[in-house]
Amino acid sequence: MAETILITGATGLVGKALTKVLLVQGYEINVLTTQKRLLGSKNNIHYFFWNPQSNDIDSKCFNKVSTVINLAGSPIAQRWTKSTKSSILNSRVQSLNTLANAIREHKINIKQLISASAIGIYPDSKTHYYEEKNVNSVGSSFLSYVVQQWEAATHQFQSMGIKTTLLRIGIVLDNKGGALPKIATPIQNYYGAVLASGEQWQSWIHIEDLVRLFIHILESRLEGVYNAVAPNPVQQVELTKAIAHVLKKPLFLPNIPEFMLKLIFGSMSSVVLESQRVCSKKIQSTGFKFTYHELSAAVDNLLT
Ligand SMILES: NC(=O)c1ccc[n+]([C@@H]2O[C@H](COP(=O)([O-])OP(=O)(O)OC[C@H]3O[C@@H](n4cnc5c(N)ncnc54)[C@H](OP(=O)(O)O)[C@@H]3O)[C@@H](O)[C@H]2O)c1
Repeated sequence: MAETILITGATGLVGKALTKVLLVQGYEINVLTTQKRLLGSKNNIHYFFWNPQSNDIDSKCFNKVSTVINLAGSPIAQRWTKSTKSSILNSRVQSLNTLANAIREHKINIKQLISASAIGIYPDSKTHYYEEKNVNSVGSSFLSYVVQQWEAATHQFQSMGIKTTLLRIGIVLDNKGGALPKIATPIQNYYGAVLASGEQWQSWIHIEDLVRLFIHILESRLEGVYNAVAPNPVQQVELTKAIAHVLKKPLFLPNIPEFMLKLIFGSMSSVVLESQRVCSKKIQSTGFKFTYHELSAAVDNLLT
Protein backbone atom coordinates (compact mmCIF):
# COMPACT_ATOMS: atom_id res chain seq x y z
CA MET A 1 0.00 0.00 0.00
CA ALA A 2 1.21 3.52 -0.81
CA GLU A 3 2.80 5.44 2.04
CA THR A 4 0.93 8.54 3.18
CA ILE A 5 2.97 11.70 3.79
CA LEU A 6 1.67 14.71 5.70
CA ILE A 7 3.08 18.00 4.39
CA THR A 8 2.80 21.44 5.99
CA GLY A 9 3.45 24.54 3.85
CA ALA A 10 2.71 22.35 0.80
CA THR A 11 1.16 25.27 -1.10
CA GLY A 12 4.48 27.17 -1.19
CA LEU A 13 7.34 27.17 -3.68
CA VAL A 14 9.09 24.04 -2.38
CA GLY A 15 5.91 22.28 -1.27
CA LYS A 16 4.18 22.53 -4.65
CA ALA A 17 7.19 21.10 -6.51
CA LEU A 18 7.69 18.33 -3.94
CA THR A 19 4.02 17.34 -3.83
CA LYS A 20 3.88 17.05 -7.61
CA VAL A 21 6.79 14.58 -7.70
CA LEU A 22 5.60 12.58 -4.68
CA LEU A 23 2.19 12.10 -6.31
CA VAL A 24 3.79 10.86 -9.53
CA GLN A 25 5.83 8.40 -7.45
CA GLY A 26 2.64 6.99 -5.95
CA TYR A 27 2.65 8.54 -2.46
CA GLU A 28 -0.63 9.56 -0.82
CA ILE A 29 -0.52 13.21 0.25
CA ASN A 30 -2.24 14.88 3.19
CA VAL A 31 -1.69 18.61 3.55
CA LEU A 32 -2.08 20.90 6.53
CA THR A 33 -2.99 24.38 5.33
CA THR A 34 -3.97 27.68 6.92
CA GLN A 35 -6.19 28.38 3.86
CA LYS A 36 -9.79 27.32 4.55
CA ARG A 37 -10.76 27.66 0.87
CA LEU A 38 -8.57 24.65 0.01
CA LEU A 39 -10.14 22.14 2.40
CA GLY A 40 -11.32 18.81 1.02
CA SER A 41 -9.71 16.59 -1.62
CA LYS A 42 -8.45 17.90 -4.94
CA ASN A 43 -6.19 16.19 -7.49
CA ASN A 44 -5.49 13.32 -5.07
CA ILE A 45 -4.35 15.70 -2.31
CA HIS A 46 -6.30 15.77 0.96
CA TYR A 47 -6.30 19.19 2.62
CA PHE A 48 -6.84 19.68 6.36
CA PHE A 49 -7.02 22.93 8.33
CA TRP A 50 -4.68 24.14 11.01
CA ASN A 51 -3.85 27.38 12.72
CA PRO A 52 -0.51 26.95 14.46
CA GLN A 53 -0.91 30.30 16.25
CA SER A 54 -3.82 28.91 18.25
CA ASN A 55 -2.57 25.30 18.38
CA ASP A 56 -5.60 24.40 16.27
CA ILE A 57 -5.19 21.28 14.11
CA ASP A 58 -7.52 18.78 12.45
CA SER A 59 -6.13 15.50 13.81
CA LYS A 60 -7.67 13.58 10.87
CA CYS A 61 -4.66 14.85 8.90
CA PHE A 62 -2.59 12.07 10.54
CA ASN A 63 -4.74 9.29 9.09
CA LYS A 64 -2.32 6.53 7.87
CA VAL A 65 0.60 9.00 8.01
CA SER A 66 4.07 7.68 8.82
CA THR A 67 6.16 10.71 7.78
CA VAL A 68 5.65 14.43 8.27
CA ILE A 69 7.42 16.94 6.03
CA ASN A 70 7.38 20.40 7.58
CA LEU A 71 7.79 23.40 5.26
CA ALA A 72 5.48 25.91 6.94
CA GLY A 73 6.58 29.43 7.74
CA SER A 74 5.61 32.99 6.89
CA PRO A 75 7.76 34.59 4.15
CA ILE A 76 11.27 35.86 5.00
CA ALA A 77 11.33 38.18 1.97
CA GLN A 78 8.97 40.82 3.34
CA ARG A 79 9.77 44.08 5.09
CA TRP A 80 10.87 43.25 8.64
CA THR A 81 8.72 45.14 11.13
CA LYS A 82 8.20 44.15 14.75
CA SER A 83 5.07 42.28 13.72
CA THR A 84 6.47 40.51 10.62
CA LYS A 85 9.60 39.49 12.56
CA SER A 86 7.42 37.99 15.24
CA SER A 87 5.41 36.16 12.56
CA ILE A 88 8.59 34.85 10.84
CA LEU A 89 9.73 33.32 14.13
CA ASN A 90 6.43 32.22 15.64
CA SER A 91 4.96 30.68 12.49
CA ARG A 92 7.92 28.29 12.36
CA VAL A 93 8.20 27.42 16.05
CA GLN A 94 4.44 27.22 16.62
CA SER A 95 3.97 24.97 13.56
CA LEU A 96 6.34 22.41 15.08
CA ASN A 97 4.81 22.83 18.54
CA THR A 98 1.30 22.30 17.17
CA LEU A 99 2.35 19.14 15.31
CA ALA A 100 4.17 17.77 18.36
CA ASN A 101 1.26 18.53 20.72
CA ALA A 102 -1.19 16.70 18.43
CA ILE A 103 1.11 13.69 17.99
CA ARG A 104 1.53 13.46 21.78
CA GLU A 105 -2.13 14.03 22.62
CA HIS A 106 -3.53 11.56 20.08
CA LYS A 107 -0.66 9.06 20.52
CA ILE A 108 0.02 9.03 16.79
CA ASN A 109 2.67 6.67 15.53
CA ILE A 110 4.94 8.81 13.32
CA LYS A 111 8.22 7.30 12.08
CA GLN A 112 9.96 10.43 10.81
CA LEU A 113 9.83 14.21 10.76
CA ILE A 114 11.68 15.92 7.91
CA SER A 115 11.76 19.65 8.54
CA ALA A 116 12.97 22.58 6.52
CA SER A 117 15.66 24.69 8.14
CA ALA A 118 17.95 27.27 6.52
CA ILE A 119 21.62 28.07 5.97
CA GLY A 120 20.87 31.44 7.58
CA ILE A 121 21.77 29.68 10.85
CA TYR A 122 25.48 30.01 9.97
CA PRO A 123 27.41 33.19 10.79
CA ASP A 124 28.02 35.80 8.10
CA SER A 125 31.50 35.08 6.74
CA LYS A 126 33.35 35.50 3.46
CA THR A 127 35.97 32.89 4.39
CA HIS A 128 34.36 30.02 6.35
CA TYR A 129 33.14 26.90 4.58
CA TYR A 130 30.26 25.59 6.66
CA GLU A 131 29.74 21.92 7.42
CA GLU A 132 26.94 20.56 9.57
CA LYS A 133 29.19 19.01 12.23
CA ASN A 134 30.32 22.31 13.76
CA VAL A 135 27.48 22.86 16.23
CA ASN A 136 28.99 26.14 17.42
CA SER A 137 28.70 27.67 13.95
CA VAL A 138 25.67 29.83 14.63
CA GLY A 139 25.34 33.51 13.82
CA SER A 140 24.06 36.43 15.89
CA SER A 141 21.67 37.86 13.29
CA PHE A 142 17.87 37.80 13.56
CA LEU A 143 17.69 35.14 10.86
CA SER A 144 20.20 32.92 12.63
CA TYR A 145 18.22 33.31 15.86
CA VAL A 146 15.02 32.28 14.05
CA VAL A 147 16.65 29.19 12.57
CA GLN A 148 18.18 28.20 15.92
CA GLN A 149 14.74 28.38 17.59
CA TRP A 150 13.17 26.55 14.62
CA GLU A 151 15.69 23.71 14.87
CA ALA A 152 15.39 23.59 18.67
CA ALA A 153 11.62 23.07 18.30
CA THR A 154 12.30 19.77 16.50
CA HIS A 155 14.00 18.30 19.62
CA GLN A 156 10.59 17.44 21.07
CA PHE A 157 10.05 14.98 18.18
CA GLN A 158 13.36 13.27 18.94
CA SER A 159 12.28 13.00 22.58
CA MET A 160 9.18 11.14 21.40
CA GLY A 161 11.41 8.65 19.56
CA ILE A 162 10.62 10.06 16.11
CA LYS A 163 13.46 10.05 13.60
CA THR A 164 14.18 13.72 12.93
CA THR A 165 15.89 15.23 9.91
CA LEU A 166 16.70 18.88 9.29
CA LEU A 167 17.47 20.23 5.83
CA ARG A 168 19.39 23.50 6.00
CA ILE A 169 18.17 24.84 2.68
CA GLY A 170 20.14 27.36 0.64
CA ILE A 171 18.75 29.85 -1.90
CA VAL A 172 16.22 27.83 -3.90
CA LEU A 173 16.43 28.53 -7.63
CA ASP A 174 13.14 28.13 -9.48
CA ASN A 175 11.60 30.10 -12.31
CA LYS A 176 8.17 30.10 -10.62
CA GLY A 177 9.11 32.17 -7.58
CA GLY A 178 11.63 32.76 -4.81
CA ALA A 179 14.95 34.54 -5.39
CA LEU A 180 15.61 33.85 -9.09
CA PRO A 181 12.80 35.90 -10.70
CA LYS A 182 13.57 38.74 -8.24
CA ILE A 183 17.16 38.86 -9.49
CA ALA A 184 16.43 38.06 -13.13
CA THR A 185 13.61 40.60 -13.76
CA PRO A 186 15.77 43.72 -13.31
CA ILE A 187 18.52 42.16 -15.44
CA GLN A 188 15.97 41.29 -18.15
CA ASN A 189 14.82 44.93 -18.09
CA TYR A 190 18.32 46.46 -18.24
CA TYR A 191 18.47 47.74 -14.64
CA GLY A 192 20.13 44.76 -13.00
CA ALA A 193 23.28 45.27 -10.95
CA VAL A 194 25.58 43.46 -8.54
CA LEU A 195 24.48 43.83 -4.91
CA ALA A 196 26.95 45.58 -2.56
CA SER A 197 30.54 44.36 -3.00
CA GLY A 198 29.30 41.23 -4.78
CA GLU A 199 31.78 39.22 -2.69
CA GLN A 200 29.13 37.66 -0.43
CA TRP A 201 28.77 33.90 -0.93
CA GLN A 202 25.38 32.64 -2.03
CA SER A 203 24.82 28.93 -1.57
CA TRP A 204 22.07 27.93 -3.97
CA ILE A 205 20.18 24.77 -4.97
CA HIS A 206 18.08 23.99 -8.06
CA ILE A 207 14.46 23.24 -7.09
CA GLU A 208 14.58 19.84 -8.84
CA ASP A 209 17.62 18.78 -6.81
CA LEU A 210 15.97 19.98 -3.61
CA VAL A 211 12.86 17.90 -4.34
CA ARG A 212 15.03 14.85 -5.12
CA LEU A 213 16.95 15.47 -1.92
CA PHE A 214 13.77 15.45 0.21
CA ILE A 215 12.78 12.15 -1.43
CA HIS A 216 16.28 10.70 -0.93
CA ILE A 217 16.05 11.50 2.81
CA LEU A 218 12.56 10.02 2.96
CA GLU A 219 13.41 6.80 1.15
CA SER A 220 16.77 6.24 2.86
CA ARG A 221 15.26 7.21 6.26
CA LEU A 222 18.29 9.43 6.94
CA GLU A 223 18.28 11.40 10.16
CA GLY A 224 20.27 14.35 11.48
CA VAL A 225 21.20 17.69 9.95
CA TYR A 226 22.01 18.07 6.24
CA ASN A 227 22.96 21.13 4.23
CA ALA A 228 20.68 21.32 1.18
CA VAL A 229 22.89 23.30 -1.19
CA ALA A 230 24.55 22.51 -4.52
CA PRO A 231 28.26 21.55 -4.48
CA ASN A 232 29.47 24.88 -5.91
CA PRO A 233 28.28 28.01 -4.11
CA VAL A 234 29.09 31.29 -5.87
CA GLN A 235 29.70 34.90 -4.91
CA GLN A 236 26.89 37.36 -5.63
CA VAL A 237 28.77 38.91 -8.55
CA GLU A 238 28.99 35.50 -10.25
CA LEU A 239 25.29 34.87 -9.72
CA THR A 240 24.37 38.23 -11.30
CA LYS A 241 26.75 37.68 -14.22
CA ALA A 242 25.55 34.10 -14.84
CA ILE A 243 21.94 35.29 -15.07
CA ALA A 244 22.88 38.20 -17.37
CA HIS A 245 24.85 35.79 -19.56
CA VAL A 246 21.94 33.35 -19.92
CA LEU A 247 19.48 36.18 -20.60
CA LYS A 248 21.98 37.74 -23.05
CA LYS A 249 21.66 41.14 -21.35
CA PRO A 250 24.41 43.64 -20.58
CA LEU A 251 25.23 44.69 -17.02
CA PHE A 252 26.26 48.31 -17.23
CA LEU A 253 25.03 49.79 -13.94
CA PRO A 254 27.46 50.13 -11.00
CA ASN A 255 27.06 47.86 -7.97
CA ILE A 256 24.15 48.89 -5.72
CA PRO A 257 25.86 50.15 -2.56
CA GLU A 258 25.16 48.46 0.75
CA PHE A 259 23.66 51.61 2.33
CA MET A 260 21.16 51.86 -0.55
CA LEU A 261 20.06 48.24 -0.06
CA LYS A 262 19.63 48.95 3.66
CA LEU A 263 17.58 52.04 2.80
CA ILE A 264 15.33 50.15 0.37
CA PHE A 265 14.89 46.88 2.26
CA GLY A 266 15.62 47.91 5.86
CA SER A 267 17.04 45.16 8.08
CA MET A 268 15.73 42.50 5.65
CA SER A 269 18.65 43.53 3.38
CA SER A 270 20.76 41.14 5.48
CA VAL A 271 19.20 38.35 3.39
CA VAL A 272 21.21 39.53 0.36
CA LEU A 273 24.15 41.06 2.22
CA GLU A 274 25.08 38.11 4.42
CA SER A 275 27.62 35.61 3.14
CA GLN A 276 27.40 31.86 3.77
CA ARG A 277 29.56 29.44 1.84
CA VAL A 278 28.04 26.09 2.64
CA CYS A 279 29.31 22.55 2.01
CA SER A 280 27.23 19.78 0.41
CA LYS A 281 29.61 16.87 1.12
CA LYS A 282 27.58 15.23 3.90
CA ILE A 283 24.49 14.59 1.77
CA GLN A 284 26.68 13.50 -1.17
CA SER A 285 28.39 10.96 1.09
CA THR A 286 24.99 9.27 1.56
CA GLY A 287 24.84 8.56 -2.19
CA PHE A 288 22.85 11.61 -3.25
CA LYS A 289 23.81 12.79 -6.75
CA PHE A 290 23.10 16.37 -7.74
CA THR A 291 21.88 17.00 -11.29
CA TYR A 292 22.93 20.67 -11.11
CA HIS A 293 26.47 21.07 -9.74
CA GLU A 294 27.28 24.33 -11.48
CA LEU A 295 25.25 27.53 -11.33
CA SER A 296 25.50 28.15 -15.08
CA ALA A 297 23.73 24.85 -15.87
CA ALA A 298 21.01 25.51 -13.27
CA VAL A 299 20.32 29.05 -14.47
CA ASP A 300 20.42 27.96 -18.10
CA ASN A 301 17.88 25.21 -17.37
CA LEU A 302 15.55 27.57 -15.52
CA LEU A 303 15.72 30.69 -17.68
CA THR A 304 15.86 29.44 -21.25
N1 LIG B 1 12.72 29.25 -0.85
C1 LIG B 1 13.93 29.37 -0.33
O1 LIG B 1 14.88 29.89 -0.99
C2 LIG B 1 14.21 28.83 1.05
C3 LIG B 1 15.54 28.87 1.53
C4 LIG B 1 15.79 28.39 2.81
C5 LIG B 1 14.77 27.88 3.60
N2 LIG B 1 13.49 27.88 3.11
C6 LIG B 1 12.42 27.39 3.99
O2 LIG B 1 11.75 26.28 3.41
C7 LIG B 1 10.35 26.34 3.71
C8 LIG B 1 9.58 26.28 2.41
O3 LIG B 1 10.03 27.37 1.59
P1 LIG B 1 9.12 27.98 0.43
O4 LIG B 1 10.00 28.86 -0.37
O5 LIG B 1 8.33 26.91 -0.21
O6 LIG B 1 8.15 28.92 1.30
P2 LIG B 1 6.79 29.63 0.83
O7 LIG B 1 6.64 29.58 -0.65
O8 LIG B 1 6.77 30.98 1.48
O9 LIG B 1 5.65 28.70 1.46
C9 LIG B 1 5.55 28.47 2.84
C10 LIG B 1 4.18 27.95 3.19
O10 LIG B 1 4.02 28.09 4.61
C11 LIG B 1 2.66 28.33 4.94
N3 LIG B 1 2.56 29.50 5.81
C12 LIG B 1 2.70 30.83 5.48
N4 LIG B 1 2.52 31.60 6.55
C13 LIG B 1 2.23 30.76 7.57
C14 LIG B 1 1.93 30.95 8.96
N5 LIG B 1 1.88 32.18 9.49
N6 LIG B 1 1.70 29.85 9.73
C15 LIG B 1 1.76 28.60 9.19
N7 LIG B 1 2.01 28.36 7.89
C16 LIG B 1 2.26 29.42 7.11
C17 LIG B 1 1.90 28.58 3.65
O11 LIG B 1 1.07 27.43 3.40
P3 LIG B 1 -0.54 27.49 3.62
O12 LIG B 1 -0.97 28.78 3.02
O13 LIG B 1 -1.02 26.30 2.84
O14 LIG B 1 -0.77 27.38 5.08
C18 LIG B 1 3.00 28.71 2.59
O15 LIG B 1 2.61 28.19 1.35
C19 LIG B 1 10.12 27.64 4.48
O16 LIG B 1 10.01 27.38 5.84
C20 LIG B 1 11.35 28.47 4.18
O17 LIG B 1 11.72 29.35 5.23
C21 LIG B 1 13.19 28.33 1.86
